[in-house]
Amino acid sequence: MQAGTSGNVPDETQKPLPKLPVPPLNATLEKYLQILKPILSVEQYENSRKIVEEFGRAGGEGERLQQKLLEYAETKRNWVYDWWLDDMYLRNPLPLPISSNPGMVFPKQPFHDQAGQLKFAARLISGILDYKVVIDARALPVDRARSRKPGQLLCMEQYYRLFSTYRVPGITKDSLVSPGCSLMPEPEHIIVICRNQFFVLDVIVNFKRLSEENLLTQLKRIVTIAMQDEEDPPPVGILTTDGRHEWAASRARLMEDSTNRDSLDMIERCIFMVCLDQSLGFPMTDIDKPIDQDDVHMAHQMLHGGGSDKNAANRWYDKTMQFIVSDDGAAGLVYEHSPSEGVAVVQLIEHLLKYLDSDTRKRKLLRAQSICELPYPRKLRWKLLSQQFYDDCEIAKQKIDLLAEDLDLQITRFTDYGKNFPKSQNMSPDAYIQLALQVVYYRMHGHLTHTYESASLRRFQHGRVDNIRSASMQALWFAETMSGKRYATVHEKKQLMRAAIDHQTEYMVQTILGYGVDCHLLGLRELAKELKWPTPAIFADVAYRDSNLFPLSTSQVLTRLDCFMCYGPVVPNGYGAAYNPHEDYILFAITALRSNPETSSLVFRETLNTVLLDMQELLLSPSTNGDCECNGHAEINGKENGECH
Ligand code: COA
Repeated sequence: MQAGTSGNVPDETQKPLPKLPVPPLNATLEKYLQILKPILSVEQYENSRKIVEEFGRAGGEGERLQQKLLEYAETKRNWVYDWWLDDMYLRNPLPLPISSNPGMVFPKQPFHDQAGQLKFAARLISGILDYKVVIDARALPVDRARSRKPGQLLCMEQYYRLFSTYRVPGITKDSLVSPGCSLMPEPEHIIVICRNQFFVLDVIVNFKRLSEENLLTQLKRIVTIAMQDEEDPPPVGILTTDGRHEWAASRARLMEDSTNRDSLDMIERCIFMVCLDQSLGFPMTDIDKPIDQDDVHMAHQMLHGGGSDKNAANRWYDKTMQFIVSDDGAAGLVYEHSPSEGVAVVQLIEHLLKYLDSDTRKRKLLRAQSICELPYPRKLRWKLLSQQFYDDCEIAKQKIDLLAEDLDLQITRFTDYGKNFPKSQNMSPDAYIQLALQVVYYRMHGHLTHTYESASLRRFQHGRVDNIRSASMQALWFAETMSGKRYATVHEKKQLMRAAIDHQTEYMVQTILGYGVDCHLLGLRELAKELKWPTPAIFADVAYRDSNLFPLSTSQVLTRLDCFMCYGPVVPNGYGAAYNPHEDYILFAITALRSNPETSSLVFRETLNTVLLDMQELLLSPSTNGDCECNGHAEINGKENGECH
């Protein structure tokens, strides 16, 4: 840097990021038809094609709407953000646990009793507060894209929402509020939940942050009060597991009383929550059991707490960050998804696990000074005068118990190879895994299905995610040949695989660069509503409605740590498939619903294992264009006797 210029060098991280583009209409419609083709019958596809073509006709409805959208986008920092938030979360009336709030499971911790639990929780809280200092100063280093235009700055807004937002249930629609924006002072307390009771723990006292020792003292006090106070405390937290409209109605009833209003206010404004859980009662790390079994139990604990007789009411699902520590070494969190994506949560976890691993001497340097005179944590009170409240709790209990029992969950580490293998084949690991998931689904169900994969839009102002759709014609052709539906030589299969990966990679790149289909169609649909236009036929088409139900809901959450994200299926006949590709293994969290006779997470997991091995074997097996094995019977891309002849 030249002398004298340092003060004038423009800091590129201060410049606003580009705005999300509005993709060209024709390109989106063309891609939309490509999305429908592998899923629909020939007749259904023809019907939808006519509708789409009519919508895209020169000078027609689509073009007029697109023009309006371009004008609207000019007026917004991110034209799709509010519509997307409503569509994805705030207008979704389903309960938050399992299908909406993801769980994050930490590596199992080495304690087996309450003393260890509280010590760990105190250290964890201290680590979170340590991270929050950086958040409050808005001093996180700005992330940059690692590939596809590497170095591009990424939007950091969702990191800053982790400790400052709260989702309020609504009768027609929820709202995401930011208590920090109100006239109230910044919150200085967290809420600790123990035996379904809520405690206000002030983490700043007399302008000083509590030390780890202070926090431990307070946690011990909380446990003592929670144990002695009431035989069977009212399980108010269970109400937050109910459907959003039901919970909105019971919250309105709670709000009628000033004691309840005060308790709700303390909960809603807290920085984060810590749930001191009881164990689910499974023996952990039994040497006769594979370690994946521990992961399965911990994932259940994060997602639903083990039902109402365990920890389901030891939660408050509307709060963005709930950290969970059980007395058997299970630890992790469950987060309310509407403010942020997993990527922001993962960065926090990485900080925490590093903090927890750092030796005590170093932590002592970091920690705040101990305060001698600490006020006792305050237990929140509820005035539950009407029978209606107890009825609401009973109904919510029954529902969450059914949901918890229904969750069919498998955690697996595929250890034969990791992302280094597809890389060695010059293939995008993400595209490779997505293709494997398509083949698995095809082998199990005999067809492809609408698939959701989160694609980060953080290259743009207030960017969240769009959808990478992995069910393509190319994937279908490959899945058919890998499932014995069509015969193909090794050489042909390799070609089909390469074509499917190339297509998937191109779709992924287009989407993360702002040219995805789902957000664009959503924008056109919602704008038509706002303009009070009659619903365009393209959005009334049953094929469009079905294309927004996702029997395969997938997401990559990358971290070098051996912790993982999990979530339930988003439709009754669906799967949740979260994965984390490490260099030499891939971790998958697969979910389905037991009540659905068509799906099974165990069969999915076993098929996935086989498919990943088959794909590797295919790529490693020698083949030349000459060694045709098809005996003239190959049918590729719908043509008799494909390229190998
Ligand atoms: N040959 C060799 N290596 C390749 C390759 C190829 N053809 N294509 C990609 N790679 C490399 C990349 O350079 C990268 O290298 P790295 O491990 O050194 O970083 C690695 O393989 C991974 O790349 P890829 O698998 O293509 O995916 P990605 O890391 O770019 O991620 C998405 C793709 C879609 C998952 C990502 O862009 C994204 O959007 N993530 C956020 C998802 C999200 O929000 N999830 C949370 C929801 S709660």
